[in-house]
Amino acid sequence: MINKRLNVLFIVSFNLVCLATSLTTLASTEALDTFFLSKQCPPSFEKREGHCYLVSMYQWYDSVQSRGVGGTQTSLPQHYGGYTPEQISLGRYLFFDPILSGDNQLSCASCHQPDKGFSDGRDVSIGIHGQRTSRSAPSLWNVGFLDKLFWDGRASDLQTQAAGPLFADNEMGAEPTQLLTKLTQNSTYMRLFNTAFPSNKEKHSIELQQIFTALAAFQSSLISLNSRYDHYAHGYHDALSEDEVQGLNVFRSFVARCAECHQPPLFTNNQIAVIGVPEKAGHAFDPGAERVYKSKKLRGGFKVPTLRNITQTAPYMHAGNIEGLEDAVAFYNKGRGHAVPDNESLQLHWHIWEPNLTDREIELITAFLGALKDESLTPSIPTKVPSGLSVTAAMQPIESTVVHADTQN
Ligand code: HEC
Ligand code: HEC
Repeated sequence: MINKRLNVLFIVSFNLVCLATSLTTLASTEALDTFFLSKQCPPSFEKREGHCYLVSMYQWYDSVQSRGVGGTQTSLPQHYGGYTPEQISLGRYLFFDPILSGDNQLSCASCHQPDKGFSDGRDVSIGIHGQRTSRSAPSLWNVGFLDKLFWDGRASDLQTQAAGPLFADNEMGAEPTQLLTKLTQNSTYMRLFNTAFPSNKEKHSIELQQIFTALAAFQSSLISLNSRYDHYAHGYHDALSEDEVQGLNVFRSFVARCAECHQPPLFTNNQIAVIGVPEKAGHAFDPGAERVYKSKKLRGGFKVPTLRNITQTAPYMHAGNIEGLEDAVAFYNKGRGHAVPDNESLQLHWHIWEPNLTDREIELITAFLGALKDESLTPSIPTKVPSGLSVTAAMQPIESTVVHADTQN
């Protein structure tokens, strides 16, 4: 009798344990499968009426001109923000999710990796099926301030830009209808898009424009304005070493002229300039902005890139043909047009000349550029994305199998 009771008790408690275990398993799978969009703006952004706006000390300074070119307390250009926290948060999943590529293997982060200054450490990027693209991947830090995107300035805002890599045959190789089908068939994405774009709910569909908006929202949150240089600029003089201060002074001097184009605080004036960087041996000359602006004067012209987090993004230049930072600085000291191919006559920018910097001055500029490093607002990489595809596999180096493709999209 007692035995029987014990047995019953045992069975009941065993069942309870099983039930409890299955409930916890269910809860934990659910937790793993559940993706939520943040309702908070990223650090450095303030939420006003549901939208996120950048807050920066530079907004206290009102003029570029009154402080002179290269002045430290200069204002920032307009930041293209105003997205909702939910859009930024959805953009983060999309940016890291290989579901965006034609073969589900490449994400935006394959070529814009957070630990490589949102570039990829290669001379030129490698796209779908191992195809080499024709240019190097620019950093995405502070990209939300730019109104000229791509090395040749062919896009003017992040939302237009996104279609480029997504649908280029040699980058992500996606196809619009197929991409929309993949996303709408994924119930998690459907739910997240409905949250980020409340007007969706009536239609139960996703639009390409919403993918672009979410990606732009996420990228506009990549802010790097809190380096030691910035502390110095805001008045904390001990933030830079003696060498770095000297380097800054050479950088903005009328001899070196770097700050004429790499203008603080973004360290780009967001203009196109012809400086005469050649291609890697064996590659056709890249006309750059000539093609986009249909202007002979801009042959070989490229966008002045930011120098923020520049220590993280080697190799340098549109062609990725300069390995080290000091070599990139020394490029300007080798004589005006020294590397222009013999059969090209380019109209070099007037600030490109022969500054005759000493080796020591080149060293000082390079030291100063190191003080522009600030990765404090690097977003965390999602461990999982709604597609269930591997975030990290998409960020592993892939080998190039196809020779140089000369197309730009
Ligand atoms: C195969 C590598 C690769 C992938 C994948 C990729 N990019 Fe890029 N990205 C590049 C290259 C290379 C350039 C420069 C192309 C040019 O200038 O012609 C670039 C340029 C950009 C720019 C312009 C930056 C500037 O300062 O001008 C932005 C923004 C950008 N990519 C965002 C994205 C987004 C968003 C995705 C995902 C939808 C993405 N990229 C996927 C390689 C890639
Ligand atoms: C006339 C405008 C101009 C001036 C002056 C100028 N630059 Fe540049 N800089 C550019 C352009 C344009 C590029 C990109 C060229 C290319 O890729 O073909 C560039 C690229 C660079 C790069 C590589 C950035 C990257 O992301 O690959 C570094 C580093 C750099 N410049 C540093 C300097 C320094 C240091 C000076 C002063 C000695 C200087 N620049 C003066 C326009 C200028």
